[in-house]
Amino acid sequence: EKAGFDHFMLKEIYEQPKAYRDTMMGRISEDGRKVVLKEIGMTLEQIQGIRKIQIVACGTAFHAGLVGKTVIESLARIPVETDVASEYRYRSPIITPDTLVIVVSQSGETADTLAALREAKRNGARVMAITNVVGSSVAREADDVIITQAGPEIAVASTKAYTSQLIAFYLLGLYLADKLETRDEKWIADVLTAMNQLPEQVESILDQAVVLKQVADSISKHSNLFFIGRGMDFAVAQEGSLKLKEISYIHSEAYAAGELKHGTLALIEDGIPVIALITQEELYEKTLSNIKEVKARGAHVLAVINAGHEGEVSKSVDEMFAIPRTLPLLAPALSVVPLQLIAYYASLALGHDVDKPRNLAKSVTVE
Ligand code: M6R
Repeated sequence: EKAGFDHFMLKEIYEQPKAYRDTMMGRISEDGRKVVLKEIGMTLEQIQGIRKIQIVACGTAFHAGLVGKTVIESLARIPVETDVASEYRYRSPIITPDTLVIVVSQSGETADTLAALREAKRNGARVMAITNVVGSSVAREADDVIITQAGPEIAVASTKAYTSQLIAFYLLGLYLADKLETRDEKWIADVLTAMNQLPEQVESILDQAVVLKQVADSISKHSNLFFIGRGMDFAVAQEGSLKLKEISYIHSEAYAAGELKHGTLALIEDGIPVIALITQEELYEKTLSNIKEVKARGAHVLAVINAGHEGEVSKSVDEMFAIPRTLPLLAPALSVVPLQLIAYYASLALGHDVDKPRNLAKSVTVE
């Protein structure tokens, strides 16, 4: 059932190109210019009436929501808040009938996420679910449901579910942008063209897995490291850090690159690995200067960069991993893949149970 792979996690990492295609399938118009989400029952008037969106989820699904926030805000210009589900209910969130609450859950059974959904409905909000399981509690109770077509995910560490959730957010963002006329048709069509290239681009990253195995082998000798990035790179950094902690038990922290000098830089010492994501063109110079700061203090830096930037970045880092060129907005769907592989190979190098890490369950049905 592992289809020749040593672990479910590796199999699921390699299933991502298919998961991307399946999640997009049937949701793009024949001419490739529009997103069609028949599963959304909101009228145009209801969509125009959304004043605020709250994205609520746990763990990796929450990290997908962090990317989702940027996607929706930049495409549809609706303000988005993100909350970890276990915090949401206890902060007296302001939920009004013109709030759209989006819960994200692979399993659709996470207790805190389900409780958040119920709290939102009690307060009169419309609830949309992004979930991988048809017929799950979350899918049954939400008003609108976008099913990610990742297929069953067995490994405790979530990989293809996360990236399929990103695809769902891209589709939703484009759908809202079209309805609200915040972006024109040509622009939307261009993003869809770039999205269609993602599966092949992921394949080309997977072809370079052996490079990442070497990176992971050297990381596995350390007990501490940092992931840094700005904007969506910071969101992906948080996911990369969680993945590594969860299955390799190596401590890491994800930091907004510009925030380092407000305290954390004190922890940078000779030889400490820093994984820096630098895919967002607008923030490129800024992140590069943060990389130089950690490098000057002895960090060993691996930079995840856009192909074509090797020349400029090579002087400031120790190692580079280039992802294929895409739109900045779509980069998370590529840049997370090397981080998943690093986590996998680090866990493997340390001899841990990759698919069933200690203390964790696949589906957390207790609060
Ligand atoms: O099934 P869900 O998406 O609601 O699960 C949420 C988290 O428990 C889950 O993403 C967890 O963080 C993963 N084990 C991370 O890999």
